[in-house]
Amino acid sequence: MEVIIAPVDQQARLAADAIEKLLRREADSTLGLATGSSPLAVYGELIHRHEQRGLSFARAQGFMLDEYVGLPADHPQRYRNVIAEELVDRVHWNAERVHGPDGLAADIPAACAEYEQAIAEAGGVDLQLLGIGTDGHIGFNEPGSSLSSRTRIKSLAPQTRSDNARFFDGDVDQVPVHCVTQGLGTISEARHLVLLASGRHKAEAVHQLVEGPISALWPATVMQLHPHATVLVDEAAASRLQLADYYRQTYAAKPAWQGL
Ligand code: GLP
Repeated sequence: MEVIIAPVDQQARLAADAIEKLLRREADSTLGLATGSSPLAVYGELIHRHEQRGLSFARAQGFMLDEYVGLPADHPQRYRNVIAEELVDRVHWNAERVHGPDGLAADIPAACAEYEQAIAEAGGVDLQLLGIGTDGHIGFNEPGSSLSSRTRIKSLAPQTRSDNARFFDGDVDQVPVHCVTQGLGTISEARHLVLLASGRHKAEAVHQLVEGPISALWPATVMQLHPHATVLVDEAAASRLQLADYYRQTYAAKPAWQGL
């Protein structure tokens, strides 16, 4: 696992560099998309590169990590609508090429199986962007999630509902109780995992992710088993890392030409 301690704007450039390299090499690459605040700077950088340098998403496919269950199709916090506004529409990416778990399906288990099938048929995810919850979730895989779980319905942890109330007028009762999320096993099959975190409130989750024992209690620790995982954190999110100086030295000594 590579840990890079850098301000958010630099994190965004590094992650966007990796995505741009992928798309320029293979225009039909498959990207894994996350919602939440963490990837916003990356999306801003990708929009900039689309507008200024003609970076094209036209032949790429996207797969989202997760979705709330039961939010009406036009609800602004439905993740499909959030990602359309934050990235997809702004880089003129055909929405039909961007897929998400269906939180409105009549038969959710069947829709989850179809979603897994769609990812497999696309050849798997080349690069998966991730944020991390304060309780260590990735996607919506809350503590207790099986480390080999697949796309399925989950109940949101009280901590996550309270963290996400800020997107629902500060009212926790408006935050859905259930979600559909790619499993930890599903996420682990992406060829490159790129996790972004900033702020002191993420410091314990980041410490556990990088340095804690692998445990369902901190679901993101599954990333320790991945052969190509990159963790981009700012100083505040890195503030509980025991080996922070070692990560800094390692990155400082990395050849400039080498990407993530
Ligand atoms: C949300 C999302 C996750 C996200 C995480 C962190 O609930 N389901 O995919 O990574 O929690 O959110 P944020 O980036 O806003 O801190």
